[in-house]
Amino acid sequence: YKTQENMLLVISMQGGKCRNQSSLVRLTGTKYSCGGGGCGACTVMVSRYNSTTKAIHHYPATACLVPICSLYGAAVTTVEGVGSIKTRIHPVQERLAKCHGTQCGFCSPGMVMSIYTLLRNHPEPAPEQITKALGVERNLCHCTGYRPIVESGKTFCVESTVCELKGSGKCCMDQEDGSLVNRWEKMCTKLYDEDEFQPLDPSQEPIFPPELIRMAEDPNKRRLTFQGERTTWITPATLNDLLELKANFPKAPLVMGNTELGPSIKFKNEFHPVFISPLGLPELHFVNTTDDGKGDNRCGIQLAQLNDALHFIVSEQPKEKTKTYRALLKHLRTLAGAQIRNMAPAPSFHHTSHLSLIPLNGPFLERSPEADLKSEEIVSSVYIPYSTQWHFVFGLRMAQRQENAFAIVNAGMSVKFEDGTNTIKKLQMFYGSVGPTTVSASQTCKQLIGRQWDDQMLSDACRWVLDEIYIPPAAEGGMVEYRRTLIISLLFKFYLKVRRGLNQMDPQKFPDIPEKFMSALEDFPIETPQGIQMFQCVDPHQPPQDPVGHPVMHQSAIKHTTGEAVYIDDMPCIDQELFLAPITSTRAHAKIISIDISEALALPGVVDVITAEDVPGDNNYQGEIFYAQNEVICVGQIVGTVAADTYAHAREAAKKVKIAYEDIEPRIITIEQALKHNSFLFDEKKIEQGNVEQAFKYVDQIIEGEVHVEGQEHFYMETSSILALPKEEDKEMVLHLGTQYPTRVQEYVAAALNVPRNRIACRMKRTGGAFGGKVAKPAVLGAVSAVAANKTGRPIRFILERGDDMLITAGRHPLLGKYKIGFMNNGVIKAADVEYYVNGGCTPDESEMVVEFIVLKSENAYYIPNFRCRGRACKTNLPSNTAFRGFGFPQGTVVVEAYITAVASQCNLPPEEVKEINMYKRISKTAFKQTFNPEPLRRCWKECLEKSSFYTRKLAAEEFNKKNYWKKRGLAIVPMKFCIGIPTAYYNQAATLVHIYLDGSVLVTHGGCELGQGLYTKMIQVRSVSVFSNIEEYACYIQLNNFFLRNAITLNAQNACQTLMARLHPIIRKNPKGKWEDWIAKAFEKSISLSATGYFKGYQTNMDWEKGEGNAYPYYVYGAACSEVEVNCLTGAHKLLRTDIFMDAAFSINPALDIGQVEGAFIQGMGFYTIEELKYSPEGVLYSRSPDDYKIPTVTEIPEEFYVTLVRSQNPIGLGEAGMFLGSSVLFAIYDAVAAARRERGLAKTFVLSSPATPEMIRMTCVDQFTDMERLFSKEKGSPGHVSYSIFFCVSYSERRQRETESVFKCLDSFNNLDCPEPNP
Ligand SMILES: Cc1cc2nc3c(=O)[nH]c(=O)nc-3n(C[C@H](O)[C@H](O)[C@H](O)COP(=O)(O)OP(=O)(O)OC[C@H]3O[C@@H](n4cnc5c(N)ncnc54)[C@H](O)[C@@H]3O)c2cc1C
Ligand code: FES
Ligand code: FES
Repeated sequence: YKTQENMLLVISMQGGKCRNQSSLVRLTGTKYSCGGGGCGACTVMVSRYNSTTKAIHHYPATACLVPICSLYGAAVTTVEGVGSIKTRIHPVQERLAKCHGTQCGFCSPGMVMSIYTLLRNHPEPAPEQITKALGVERNLCHCTGYRPIVESGKTFCVESTVCELKGSGKCCMDQEDGSLVNRWEKMCTKLYDEDEFQPLDPSQEPIFPPELIRMAEDPNKRRLTFQGERTTWITPATLNDLLELKANFPKAPLVMGNTELGPSIKFKNEFHPVFISPLGLPELHFVNTTDDGKGDNRCGIQLAQLNDALHFIVSEQPKEKTKTYRALLKHLRTLAGAQIRNMAPAPSFHHTSHLSLIPLNGPFLERSPEADLKSEEIVSSVYIPYSTQWHFVFGLRMAQRQENAFAIVNAGMSVKFEDGTNTIKKLQMFYGSVGPTTVSASQTCKQLIGRQWDDQMLSDACRWVLDEIYIPPAAEGGMVEYRRTLIISLLFKFYLKVRRGLNQMDPQKFPDIPEKFMSALEDFPIETPQGIQMFQCVDPHQPPQDPVGHPVMHQSAIKHTTGEAVYIDDMPCIDQELFLAPITSTRAHAKIISIDISEALALPGVVDVITAEDVPGDNNYQGEIFYAQNEVICVGQIVGTVAADTYAHAREAAKKVKIAYEDIEPRIITIEQALKHNSFLFDEKKIEQGNVEQAFKYVDQIIEGEVHVEGQEHFYMETSSILALPKEEDKEMVLHLGTQYPTRVQEYVAAALNVPRNRIACRMKRTGGAFGGKVAKPAVLGAVSAVAANKTGRPIRFILERGDDMLITAGRHPLLGKYKIGFMNNGVIKAADVEYYVNGGCTPDESEMVVEFIVLKSENAYYIPNFRCRGRACKTNLPSNTAFRGFGFPQGTVVVEAYITAVASQCNLPPEEVKEINMYKRISKTAFKQTFNPEPLRRCWKECLEKSSFYTRKLAAEEFNKKNYWKKRGLAIVPMKFCIGIPTAYYNQAATLVHIYLDGSVLVTHGGCELGQGLYTKMIQVRSVSVFSNIEEYACYIQLNNFFLRNAITLNAQNACQTLMARLHPIIRKNPKGKWEDWIAKAFEKSISLSATGYFKGYQTNMDWEKGEGNAYPYYVYGAACSEVEVNCLTGAHKLLRTDIFMDAAFSINPALDIGQVEGAFIQGMGFYTIEELKYSPEGVLYSRSPDDYKIPTVTEIPEEFYVTLVRSQNPIGLGEAGMFLGSSVLFAIYDAVAAARRERGLAKTFVLSSPATPEMIRMTCVDQFTDMERLFSKEKGSPGHVSYSIFFCVSYSERRQRETESVFKCLDSFNNLDCPEPNP
C-alpha cells in the first residue's frame, strides 16, 4: 500500500482474508463469521516491537475489526504462518486435531491462533490460562461443546492434564486398588494418545522480522497518510502533531482499537472521511505510578496491558490503597474478549491541549455538553487514585453470560466514611445499561450523606434510587422490571460488601453480615473444566488393522486446524465473478407499492438489481417464495438482490434501494395472535390411546398448565454461503454450497430457472456447521443466487453476513404447550391431554414434519395409559422457522418434563421418583402403537442415578441451601427415549458408488453431507470398507455429495464394498500373499468391474395419521442426564457444577466422534434452555442479530465436571440429534434450585417454568423484597420494549397481585431486619 508521500505500509504478514480479486495475499485459513469481533473465528496474532522496552509483544486480535493501516510496523501471523500440511504442522494444530477438538472445523483456525499466541507468551501455561485463552477470550464453537478443545490446550500445561479428580492431580482411573476399574470393566477412557504428540519447541517459532525492529528504532518518525477510495487515514508522529491534526479535522475520530468505531461503521452506516490514529504514540503509551498516591495510566495502552499493570500495582501496594484497582481488574476480566482487550485502549476520560483535568463524575459520564470533551480535544491520560482506609470501592455487574457479554446492568459504587465510623462522608453510585449513558444516582447519594451504614439506610437508598433512575417501559433492551430489580439488588450486594469490610476493620464496633448471606458477596469463579469420557473398549482379539471401535481422528481434522480445509468463501475468485447482497423487507406484512432501484444502479461497481420479475420459472415453489412479489410476509424476506463487483459495493447499493409499502392487517407475530386469528399452516396432527375423558373422572388430582419454549438460532459458524456458476451450454449451472440437502437445492433451483433437474449440479464438500439450518434454507437461497447468475450470466458469490443470516434464515420453532394431567396421589399419571402449537413463520418449510415429530415423540420415556396429543403449526409473519437439531423433540419434551415436575410438586414427591414410577418398564407399545424394548432406557437411568451419586449429592445440595439464603443449588435427572429416522420410508434410502482405481486407491461417492459429524471418517472405518482398502496406505478418498438421494449411511458403503470384495475374491484366493495393487491389476486384466453401487432401501417406516398408528421409526436411542447447578438468587446468574450423561450408543464405530456428538449436542441444548434468547419487536423485527445480543455458550458455561459414558446396547445408533434434549437437565436443575429459594421465601410451590431459564427469569422467579419493591415503586407497569416469542413471567401476575398488599410492608420490614428473613406466612 502506498502512502501519500509514497511510503509503503509495511506489515509482515503470513496470511489474510481475501474477499476480492485485487487482493494480493490469498491465504484463506483465517475465517470470517460475525465480522464484529464477537466470535474469534478470525483470530490472528499481531506482534509488535516496543523500542522503549526492547521487547516483542504478541497478542491475539480479531482480524475482522483491525484496520489494515493500524498494522503499520506490525507482524501478523495467521494460521498458515503457524504450520501447514505442506511443510510441518505445529503441535497446537496437531493436538487440537488429535484431541478431537474440531468437528466442522470453521472455528478451528481461530482456536489454534488463540492457543498459539498464549504459548508464544507462556510456553508452559497453567490450565486456567487455557480456559481463559479460549473462553474468556470469546472463541466460539457451536459444535464440540469445548471440552476437547480445552483438553488439547491442557496438554501443553506442565501440571497434570489427566482428569485431576478431587484436586489430587491423579486420574481416578489409575487407582491402585482397581475398584473403579473393576466396576467399569471393559470401559476405556483414552480418546487419544499423548505419546504421539510432537513436543512444543519454542525455539522453532519464526523470529520477529528484523526490518520491523529497525523501523521501530528509527528516531525520525514521520506522519503517515494513507489515502483510500473514500477515506483518509492519518497516523501522527508526535503528540503535538496529533493535536494539530485534531485542530484541523475536529470531526475526525481517533481510532485506537477500532472496536467501537469499527462495528458502527460496518453495521450502523457511520461514515468518516478522515481517521486519525495515534495508536503507538509513546506519549500516550505508558503506565506510571506517582508518589502522591495517584496511578497515571496513559490512555493509549491497551486494556490487556492495563490489566497487567493493575495486577502489578495490586501486588506491590498495600491492600487498602488498591481497592479501585481491584474493582477495575474484576471488571476488566468480563469486558469483551482478549482479542478486543488487546485492541481497545483504556477508556478515554480527559485532557485538552492545555492539559486540563476532567473529573470522572456524573456530568461527564452522562455526557452533559459542558463536561464533555470538545471536538478538538483528546484524552492523553487517565489518573486512577489510590483508595484510603475508610473508603470502599466495588464494581458490580450482571450479564446474560458470565463472561464476554454486555452487562444487563452494571454499577460502580464507592463510599467514604468518617474515619473510624460507619457515617457516610461521600457516596457515589453509577449505573450502566440503564439508559443511553452511564447514570449517576447523585440525588440519592447526596441525601444519604451523614447517614449510618445500616439496614434503614439501605431501605431508603433502594427506594430513592428506584425513584431517581427511571427506565421507561419501552426502553431499548427491554427487561425493565428485571433491570430495575438489579439496580437495587446490586446496591444490596454493595451494602453487604461494605458491611463486611467494616466488620473486618473493626469487628467489635461493626457486626458482620449473617452467615447465610456470605455467598451473596462473590460471583461464580471460573474453573477449568474436567471430567471423564467412557466407552466400550474394542475386543482385544480384534485385528490391529481393523479400525472399528477406535477413536480415530476426524478425517479432515488436520486440514481444519491448519486452515487448509476449503469452505465456500475460501474458493478462489472466478473470472467475472459478482457478489450478491440481499435487499430485505422491513415490514412484517405489507403490500409492495413500488421498488425504486435507480440510485442503487447508479453506484460504482453495481451490475444489476434482481427482483421477482427476473425469475424465469416458479417464484413460488411448494409455498416457498424466492423473491417477494406484490407483498411481503415477514421482516427479512428477500425482496431483491444487488449484484456488484465487490461485496462492499453490493451492500452499499442494497441500502439505496427504496421500497414503498402499505401495511396489511392482520400482522401476526406470536403464537397467541395466530390462535386468535385461527392462522395455521397445516391441519392438526393427533395421536390418542385409552379413554382420556373417562380417566379424568377417576383420578385423585388434575393440573393444567402452559409451557412456553422459545426458539433458537442455529448459529453455525459458517454463514449460508453459495457460489453459483452458470455454464455456457444448455442452461447448466453448478452450485457450490454448504447444505444438508443438496437434492432439495437442485429441485428448487431447477424450478426457479425452469430447466430440467439434470442441468443443475450441487457440490457440497463440507460446511462450517449446520444443525438443521442448512436443510431447507439453502434451497431458497440457492434459487435466489441462481436467478441472479442466470440474469447476469456471471458467477455469483452469495455469502450472507451474520446479521442477514440470522434475520433471513430463522431457526428452531418456538412452542407453546398446554397440558391437562390427571394423576393419583402416589404420582401415577393416568391421563394426559396435551396440545402443542409451534410458531411456523410465514411459509411451510419443514413445519409439518416438525409438528409430526413433536406429536410422535411427545410421550418421551413415560407410559400414560390414557394419552392424547395434538399439534399444529401456526402461520405467522415471521421468517419461516425450520429444521433444528432434534427436530421439535427438545421443545416438546420440555413440556413433558414440566408436567411431570408439576405432578411431583403436587404430590410432595421428588420429581425423579415420579419419573421412575411412570417410566416405561418392559417391552411395550408407544402411544402410536409401535412396539419397543425400553431396557436400555432403564439401564441408562439406573446407571445415571447411581454413578452420579444423585441421592447423596441431593442431600448435600439441601444442606448447602439451608446455609445460604442468596445462593441455591439444584439437581435434576432427565430420561430420554428418542426415535431415530423418518416415518416416511422413501426418505430413509441411501446410495453409494465405489470405484477402485488402477493404482489401488479407492473413491467412495455417496449422498451424505459432512457437517462436522465425521460421516466420512466413520465410513472409512466400516469394517468391509477399511479391510478391503487399507486406509493407511490408500487413503480411501470420500467424494463430495454427488448423489441426489437424501441420506447416506455407512451401510450402503459396506454393501458396495462387499460386492467388490466378492468380485475380487477368486483373484485373492489364487494369490493370497499378493499385494492389493497386484489383485487390482489382475482384476482389470480379467475385465472385472471395479465399480459398484451400494444401495440401502431404507427402513420401512410408516405412519397412518388417520388412525394415529404406525411403525413410525426404525429404532430408538435412549439416554439419561443428571445436572447440578448453583443459582444466584440476587442476580439470576447460574453456574453448572456437574453433568453426568449415560447414552445408549450401541457399539460405537468411533467413540471419539460419538462422544463429540453427545457433548456438542448437550452444550447446544444447554444454551437453548438457558441463555440463548431471540428478541423481537412487537412489529416482528428481530433485534438479536449478532453474537453481541445472542449468546451461545462459551467455555465458561460448560460443566465444571463433565462425565460422559457410552452405554452398549443392541440398537443401531444416531446420537447427534438425541443429545440436545439432555441439556434440559440443566433447566430442571435450575427449576429445582429456584423452587428451593421459593420454598424458603414461602411462595407457591408450583410455578410456571419456561425455556430459556435466562438470568431475567431466574431472578424474577426468586421473588423477594427487591422484586416486590421494584414493583411497588415502579412508575409505570406496562409492556416491555420488546416481546419475546412467549410472554413469560415466572410468577404469574395473579400470584403477584395477591401478594401486593402484604408486600408493601414486608419489603420495608425485611430491610429493617437484615437477619435472614423468615419465610412469608
Ligand atoms: C466484541 C466486542 C465486545 C465488547 N465488549 C465490551 C464490554 O463488555 N464492555 C464495554 O464497555 N465495551 C465493550 N466493547 C466496546 C469497546 O471494546 C470498548 O468500548 C473500547 O473501550 C473501545 O475502545 P477503542 O479504542 O477500540 O475504540 P475506538 O473504536 O478506536 O474509538 C472509540 C471512540 O473513542 C474516541 N477516542 C479514542 N481515543 C480517544 C482519545 N484519546 N481522546 C478522545 N477520544 C478518543 C474515538 O474518537 C471514537 O469516537 C466491545 C466491543 C466489541 C467489538
Ligand atoms: S469474524 Fe471476527 S470475531 Fe467473528
Ligand atoms: S468445530 Fe467449532 S464451530 Fe464447528
